[in-house]
Amino acid sequence: MSSPQQIAQTFQNALNISDSSPNAVSTSPTQNSYLQQFAGAHRKSISKPTKTLKPFSTGDIKILLLENVNQTAINIFQTQGYQVEFYKSSLPEDELIEKIREVHAIGIRSKTKLTEKILQHAKNLVVIGCFCIGTNQVDLETAAKLGISVFNSPFSNSRSVAELVIAEIITLARQLGDRSIEMHTGTWNKVSAKCWEIRGKTLGIVGYGHIGAQLSVLAEAMGMNVLYFDVNMIMSLGNSKQVDTLDELLARSDFISLHVPETSETKNMLSTPQFAAMKNGAYVINASRGTVVDIAALVQAMKSGKIAGAALDVYPNEPAKNGENLFANELNHWTSELVSLRNVILTPHIGGSTEEAQSAIGIEVASALSKYINEGASTGAVNFPEVQLRALDLDQQNSVRVLYIHQNVPGVLKTVNNILSNHNIEKQFSDSRGDIAYLMADISDVDTTDIKSLYEQLEQTPYRIATRLLY
Ligand SMILES: NC(=O)c1ccc[n+]([C@@H]2O[C@H](COP(=O)([O-])OP(=O)(O)OC[C@H]3O[C@@H](n4cnc5c(N)ncnc54)[C@H](O)[C@@H]3O)[C@@H](O)[C@H]2O)c1
Repeated sequence: MSSPQQIAQTFQNALNISDSSPNAVSTSPTQNSYLQQFAGAHRKSISKPTKTLKPFSTGDIKILLLENVNQTAINIFQTQGYQVEFYKSSLPEDELIEKIREVHAIGIRSKTKLTEKILQHAKNLVVIGCFCIGTNQVDLETAAKLGISVFNSPFSNSRSVAELVIAEIITLARQLGDRSIEMHTGTWNKVSAKCWEIRGKTLGIVGYGHIGAQLSVLAEAMGMNVLYFDVNMIMSLGNSKQVDTLDELLARSDFISLHVPETSETKNMLSTPQFAAMKNGAYVINASRGTVVDIAALVQAMKSGKIAGAALDVYPNEPAKNGENLFANELNHWTSELVSLRNVILTPHIGGSTEEAQSAIGIEVASALSKYINEGASTGAVNFPEVQLRALDLDQQNSVRVLYIHQNVPGVLKTVNNILSNHNIEKQFSDSRGDIAYLMADISDVDTTDIKSLYEQLEQTPYRIATRLLY
């Protein structure tokens, strides 16, 4: 009996596809072993066995991981059988161009810039994984035009942020930051004036999404009353209550914590009028985005005594690297005034920076990349139409999954369906995003000898960007 590698080689020879062809990555999901490996959110309940699509050896897949991506990701890729090349740091541009020519997937964090120039050299690349929240470091539009999908991990660190905010609520209420600084400089200052328990106080959460909702549960467990304001109607967790306006939330809350995205509507969402609308002696916490709070106005509100304390984790301008004297007036003009205030906790954008979050990011992004490589599922992609089909059943042995990325122009689906029409189209789904469209189709009654012809016909269609066949 042939080994999987021999079978893979046979198919590859039959198709006469060179290693440098993007189709060479049309490869093998090992979805069953992959699913068995990960418990909880990463394990799916499978009611009946599904077919493993295995055209080529997974060993053909090359993954380049930069910037010390978490070990959990390496484990997932190695379990898949992929070849993993790992670097602790980013690579200089010329080296990156050399490396990216070869690989089918690349994993980066925030320092590696994947510009148009670099992406033009990425002849085999099908997918980019940003093992972080942001994706600004990637030219998303160029990637989409080249048929390269990009994934990130927006929510793996929600719990870490929520826990930090809980810590900050108590720290502000008890003035712990000031007491600690005083002790470090030899001052003993045992006071209870204006130090509070948080039990029975009201927390106002602005933005009741992944982080806001987690925070709500934790705060209630500590005896706080929780109000929240969100542009959407969202069902409350526990006993928390949604309010209709931001002003109502500001007027009724002792602590106000922001958990909204950066948009034109949220820019300076808290400024002079909003601080004025708060209770005297309220506390403000921002671990969302730096533009959401007008910090110059916050400084004034604190100097006047209106606001009793603030915790900031994010800033309009943040240093690009770690180092001394970087958080200074040159970066944000109000810095020296802000740092001189009492009961202000300043942290360097560490809300999501925990070992657990890094590990969860590794799992989430590596899982998304493997699923895209193995099954074509693009759910969660940030630059690409999100398309997914349910798995093929085990008994569907003569089935082929067609993955076809194309320019979003009229008539393409008609051309493609003409090509597929000699076979039974079991299911198909297509979606577009801007100029790019992505079609997934499972077709049955396909003889292995037909596969090469199918692939070549699809590749010759005028608006095609990339084709992959999984079988
Ligand atoms: N400090 C950190 O390290 C860190 C880590 C992770 C996330 N974040 C930031 O935290 C914020 C929240 O993240 P999330 O994962 O909870 O996001 P999310 O998308 O799950 O939730 C955001 C919520 O804000 C609501 N919203 C949007 N615009 C609004 C507006 N104008 N007024 C009221 N509500 C509005 C949305 O409806 C949504 O419910 C984001 O800005 C994110 O970038 C910071």
